[in-house]
Amino acid sequence: MSRLARNDPRQYDDLAGEWWRPGGGFELLHWLAAARGALVPAASRPGAVLVDAGCGGGLLAPHVEHLGYRHVGVDLRRSGLEQAASRGVAVLAGDVAALPLADESADVVVAGEILEHVPDLPATVAELCRVLRPGGLLVLDTINDTRLGRLISITLGERFGAAPVGIHDPELFVDPGELTMHCAKHGVRLRVRGVRPSVPGLIRWLALPTGTAPRRLGRMVPTRSTQVLYQGIGRKQGSRGEVQV
Ligand SMILES: C[S@@+](CC[C@H](N)C(=O)[O-])C[C@H]1O[C@@H](n2cnc3c(N)ncnc32)[C@H](O)[C@@H]1O
Repeated sequence: MSRLARNDPRQYDDLAGEWWRPGGGFELLHWLAAARGALVPAASRPGAVLVDAGCGGGLLAPHVEHLGYRHVGVDLRRSGLEQAASRGVAVLAGDVAALPLADESADVVVAGEILEHVPDLPATVAELCRVLRPGGLLVLDTINDTRLGRLISITLGERFGAAPVGIHDPELFVDPGELTMHCAKHGVRLRVRGVRPSVPGLIRWLALPTGTAPRRLGRMVPTRSTQVLYQGIGRKQGSRGEVQV
């Protein structure tokens, strides 16, 4: 168990070696990043900006680098930002609840596995929507605030090594109805769908001697239930600079 409190972002400094370690502790984040990247359309104009809120080590970079965006990553921890920068992400130190970016400056805002870490969900959603242009796209994934979400992500996830011990605070898990309501307040109609890891990939990863895997042991697949992990996608109302999906 980390000496730090649950969800303390300084844990990511101790875990910095995991971001890109093949088959390492952040393996599932790679699968989620791939699934998230698949929801992002190609840029519809020169100079289009994709803001990656809580970018960590920049795991999204290989999944969007061919799409024509300037990939801007914001995170609290420099240890992650340095690795994101080395993958071609333009990085900014900052809090996702107070993004250091101008209003309506992003064509796409991505919030991957960050909303379950923020103490102020309404403020964070307001920020994500503030920096998004009218017609722009919000793409996110997070953990549901359900008993099953807590069982899988914490009780079992931490027990069997699928999540670093102490990285999540179950109090911050995100109810999709509440999230959808906050997005709607800021002009984004969010649609959600469940995702889960592919079972063979999960078994391969958990059975592996540490750090000996080739990249991508598995992938995320859609599932009817949003009870544990879910993705969200929504366009901000308005037509200026609209992104085609
Ligand atoms: C689970 S990781 C997700 C990283 C990345 N989005 C991905 O999916 O690979 C959560 C990241 O959010 C960052 N973080 C946590 N709270 C934050 C906040 N309030 N503002 C900005 N970044 C934050 C952490 O430093 C960490 O890099």
